[in-house]
Amino acid sequence: MFSLYLKKEIFYKSTTVQYICCQPYSMFNLILFGPPGSGKGTQSEHIIESFGLQHLSTGNLLRTEIANQTTLGMEAKRLMDAGQLVPDAVVIGMVGNFMDARPEAKGFLFDGFPRTTAQCVALDALLKEKKSEINVVLALEVSEEELVKRLLGRGLTSGRSDDTNETIIRARIQEYHDKTTAVATYYAKFNKVVAVTGEGTVESIYADLKKEIDARI
Ligand code: AP5
Repeated sequence: MFSLYLKKEIFYKSTTVQYICCQPYSMFNLILFGPPGSGKGTQSEHIIESFGLQHLSTGNLLRTEIANQTTLGMEAKRLMDAGQLVPDAVVIGMVGNFMDARPEAKGFLFDGFPRTTAQCVALDALLKEKKSEINVVLALEVSEEELVKRLLGRGLTSGRSDDTNETIIRARIQEYHDKTTAVATYYAKFNKVVAVTGEGTVESIYADLKKEIDARI
């Protein structure tokens, strides 16, 4: 990777150059990964506040489309209410627009995206256009029973139609196993995935995530 930026002989001759060489990209981009209810949204709030990253949640973008009653939103709602993923092309288009609208971003926190291998490939291409890349994928691990408990609990107050019915919640979790675990497999090939326990207090989980980010930023 480094050879794209500096000639090999320069890399070995200067420690100053070596420092620059190890940080070829100026943005810091993080994927907060995990099943529905694992705490991605909750932890994102803390991370963006501490590190000044742009929070890109495809779930939030889609819910804004639904609230605005756009054609895209109405089609997405049908799938979301069934616990299924929205088509890749729709989501990738939204992500591209979001990133292009923030040219000064010092980095992005991707929450709920990518969710398929096709989305990973598209994201890598979008970041490459900005001479950037994914720095790390932090994967929250939470048991299925805890996920269901959290989402049913949130459904009492959130107004999210996909949280109120246990069958739909389990369909979302199944969709995660069928299509989204491939995202971790994809980034594991580049040694970018770090597993973090997602059970415990919000504060203790955040402390673990922060430690991993501090080690890389
Ligand atoms: P999205 O909005 O991304 O939902 P999700 O992935 O199902 O995630 P959630 O928001 O439900 O959970 P979370 O991990 O953020 O947890 P949270 O912090 O909220 O997607 C919704 C739908 O949109 C998808 O099903 C799909 O249809 C579509 N979609 C979105 N992105 C897409 C994409 N890229 N491609 C295709 N389709 C896409 O926490 C959950 C609850 O737990 C909260 O009540 C919280 O207070 C509580 N909680 C959090 N942490 C803890 C803790 N440590 N202990 C106890 N409770 C906790």
